[in-house]
Amino acid sequence: MDVLVTGGAGFIGSHLTESLLAAGHRVTVLDSFANSKRESVPKGAKLVEWDVSSAPEPGMLDGIETVFHLAADPDVKGSALRPRENFVINAAGTFNMLEACRKSGVKSFVFTSSSVVYGEAKVQPTPEDYPPSPISNYAAGKLAGEAYCMSYSHTYGIKSTVLRLANIFGERSTHGVMFDFYKKLKERPSRLEILGNGKQSKSYLHVSDCVSGMLVAFEMQKSQSVVFNIGSKEKHTVDEIAQTLSLELGCSPQLVHQGGARGWAGDVPEMLLSTSKLESLGWKPKIAFGEGVRRYAAWLKKHY
Ligand SMILES: NC(=O)c1ccc[n+]([C@@H]2O[C@H](COP(=O)([O-])OP(=O)(O)OC[C@H]3O[C@@H](n4cnc5c(N)ncnc54)[C@H](O)[C@@H]3O)[C@@H](O)[C@H]2O)c1
Repeated sequence: MDVLVTGGAGFIGSHLTESLLAAGHRVTVLDSFANSKRESVPKGAKLVEWDVSSAPEPGMLDGIETVFHLAADPDVKGSALRPRENFVINAAGTFNMLEACRKSGVKSFVFTSSSVVYGEAKVQPTPEDYPPSPISNYAAGKLAGEAYCMSYSHTYGIKSTVLRLANIFGERSTHGVMFDFYKKLKERPSRLEILGNGKQSKSYLHVSDCVSGMLVAFEMQKSQSVVFNIGSKEKHTVDEIAQTLSLELGCSPQLVHQGGARGWAGDVPEMLLSTSKLESLGWKPKIAFGEGVRRYAAWLKKHY
């Protein structure tokens, strides 16, 4: 199959691209390298350098059968400081890619949304039919993207799969709490500043389990838009992450908390997704949290 992966040079996108290539698909990566490097495009993939803030040029998607749309600005904190930029890349960028699909006759679309669309859900694990209630600009942009997936599915018959990802971590990730802690600990192993009270408690899933979930959901794509959660079975606190990572790095820092229950404006302090819908299709996460942190720490030590 001819597949286009936007954001295919990024953290999750590069792992996804490798898996698609290994499965025998022909993959084109579309990326602006806003948050990645040209060298990160997996070998064997074709490259189109493009910014999804602008509508793709006519013909750019010709021959493509499925678009996996991952290109985004994933910075929740930053979306409070740069709301327009976040909207243009995340919400309008998703619209641009769907519109390009419509014009080129691409009939299948997979979109990486996020657990943050649920906001502060009172039901946990949160199922897919729980009403979304975004509390950050990033979440609002993702929900707008989901809405366009649904409208393009109903209006133009573009099958779409919306994937609400929990916190994904692992090799090649250069953002998020673990990367942030690693950088701080490398500079100062005796003291670790933590945004919030350290009790924020969320689901963290290793990237290889995330990609296997994405592919299972994609293979079951239906004629209409379908939503799947992808996450781990348990939550971990920020303090626990600090301790597990410190252990891997051989240090025991004093944890210094800054702020209250929320790490930053728009932070969702508690998150756990129900994954029974995806599990009913045969998916199951394989990498335990501790093992995932071990693998990621080994990669970080080698590369940073
Ligand atoms: N990592 C997580 O924990 C997580 C959780 C929920 C959802 N997601 C979503 O999954 C997707 C991938 O996230 P990631 O963690 O791999 O992020 P990432 O930043 O590593 O990858 C994003 C890629 O998109 C590219 N990109 C950014 N802006 C672009 C633009 N305007 N045009 C074209 N390319 C652009 C970047 O250069 C990068 O290669 C994103 O849509 C993100 O919102 C990630």
